[in-house]
Amino acid sequence: MAGDKIAMELSPKPPQKGESKTGEYWADIMATFDAVFSNLESYKNMMRFAIDSLADSQNVLDSSAGTGHLTLAMLDQGKSVTALDLHQGILAPLAAKKEAYGSRLKIVVGDGTELPFLTGSFDGMASLQVLPYVDSPDAYLAEHARVLAPGGRLVVSGPSSLDLSSGAMVMVNWYNELKSALGQDRASSTWGDFVPKLLEMSRSGPFKQYSKDEITDMLVQSGDLSVVDITDNPLYYGSGYLAVAEKLDRAKLNQ
Ligand SMILES: C[S@@+](CC[C@H](N)C(=O)[O-])C[C@H]1O[C@@H](n2cnc3c(N)ncnc32)[C@H](O)[C@@H]1O
Repeated sequence: MAGDKIAMELSPKPPQKGESKTGEYWADIMATFDAVFSNLESYKNMMRFAIDSLADSQNVLDSSAGTGHLTLAMLDQGKSVTALDLHQGILAPLAAKKEAYGSRLKIVVGDGTELPFLTGSFDGMASLQVLPYVDSPDAYLAEHARVLAPGGRLVVSGPSSLDLSSGAMVMVNWYNELKSALGQDRASSTWGDFVPKLLEMSRSGPFKQYSKDEITDMLVQSGDLSVVDITDNPLYYGSGYLAVAEKLDRAKLNQ
């Protein structure tokens, strides 16, 4: 029965409006999203921007790392990377690679609004595609500003509000990129799994979108941060934000 198929596709049970998303739910979503995004040049371009922006950082926090593509890319550059996420299950693909990177890879289950790190612990941080899902973005950013060392950099990305036609164009472009990467047959079945999850997620709670001006204000207000670069997010083709903030180095200022 068609109804049974939909029920199977939507398991585990999506949260209802106002309910928080469980680890099992996120792990399921991330596996489906990963099958699409890890194949998109636009996603890789967003990651490249973050990697270039953190070129001088050696001890980096990949905050809300998900399955950890950025973590792995930065480990491969020789950096030490701490990958943090709310849920253990999401970090499982990274945990499976722990041995290959030894002490340079740390995996931490924790909440980005209450980071389990000392003030000034990292000289670089990225939090890509996370702010849309965070209930208290001000608390989240303030915590990241706290654990960032003076002179360190934080990169954040996300969508800005898309009208119906720009949203549809983004979807068409993603599908075309997926088709170039995987070929028609694999792209079509991967896309068939992805779209219902995307819809289900958009119904389950707010998906917060910020303009570049709003993100700039939020970063600046979170404590001693100034925005040193902000651009469109390649993932949304001429929309969204990809911002780099730097923490004020008061010791340097006073010299
Ligand atoms: C769309 S994924 C992005 C993952 C990864 N940064 C990427 O670019 O592929 C959002 C991630 O944010 C995590 N997350 C959401 N709220 C969080 C919070 N308050 N603290 C830590 N992680 C959180 C989710 O578990 C999920 O892995």
